[in-house]
Amino acid sequence: MRKLLLQLDTSRLPSVFDRVVAYDGGADEVMSYGGIVEADVRDLVHGCIFTRGPKDLKNTAGFIGGADMAAGERLLAAAQQAFFGPFRVSLMLDSNGSNTTAVAAVEKMVQAVGDVRGQRVLIIAGTGPVGIRAAGLFARAGAEVVITSRKPEAGERARDLVVKRFGGTVRAITMPDASEAIRACERASLLLNAGPAGVMLVPKQAWANRPGLKVVADVNAVPPLGIEGLDVMDDGVTKDGVRCFGALAIGNLKMKLHKACIARLFERNDLVLDAETIADVARELSAKPK
Ligand SMILES: NC(=O)c1ccc[n+]([C@@H]2O[C@H](COP(=O)([O-])OP(=O)(O)OC[C@H]3O[C@@H](n4cnc5c(N)ncnc54)[C@H](OP(=O)(O)O)[C@@H]3O)[C@@H](O)[C@H]2O)c1
Repeated sequence: MRKLLLQLDTSRLPSVFDRVVAYDGGADEVMSYGGIVEADVRDLVHGCIFTRGPKDLKNTAGFIGGADMAAGERLLAAAQQAFFGPFRVSLMLDSNGSNTTAVAAVEKMVQAVGDVRGQRVLIIAGTGPVGIRAAGLFARAGAEVVITSRKPEAGERARDLVVKRFGGTVRAITMPDASEAIRACERASLLLNAGPAGVMLVPKQAWANRPGLKVVADVNAVPPLGIEGLDVMDDGVTKDGVRCFGALAIGNLKMKLHKACIARLFERNDLVLDAETIADVARELSAKPK
């Protein structure tokens, strides 16, 4: 039976990236819809659950993406509400690569330092989908999380989203531009740049040889990189006293994880892959002998 993936994207144009990875992860056909809002979800999901018998429903699955994390969460909730009894399909939420990218970055950073409980994690530009999910994963692991935003309201909004979903200790601070990075980095043990492609937000003098700082990571692969002095291929190398992870090293793990998650969607019909469950998949992948 053909493996069908329903792609529901909150952005106007459904992500081509997500569609390509869906095929590479094992989907035979991807049905892509863009500009999806909560009210659209029930009927689209009914199209999935009423067309194949319960034992065959593992061959149909749903993927939720788009640029807006909160909107993605609402679609996931609406899809789950449309299910009943055995009439359900597996679902994955990965707005803008948020969960897979954040899990990959957090996994590498945590492996580098061990326990993050009580440690200060600074997430630069932590208000986008990737930063929000990374903040949640660190907060859940017991870290003291600080996210930066250029605007106080955006920072508070993101903070509230993270705390409501994951709990833990999260604070938002305002960092209008890179000139404020030195002050923002004070007392950070771990530093992650989750800012947009092609914007340098952390000059080298803010992190190099900073006492107490153990690891820096950047998910921006587009020059100029988000953290000056990192290389996209850095995969745990120590530079100026700090372990470094660049965007392609994180991206390689993200791609493996994203494809593995797509494959898992078609193993059963009741899986929900969101931050925590995607983190479980990452740990299983890391534990596998190479
Ligand atoms: N390596 C990988 O595998 C991988 C995979 C997916 C995504 N990514 C990368 O992950 C990063 C984060 O993605 P995302 O979708 O979460 O990011 P995003 O939403 O595009 O941006 C994150 C935040 O950056 C701030 N920002 C936007 N423009 C800015 C500017 N010109 N100067 C300073 N700050 C600015 C905004 O926060 P405020 O308005 O609150 O300041 C925004 O909420 C991107 O660089 C993306 O390319 C990497």
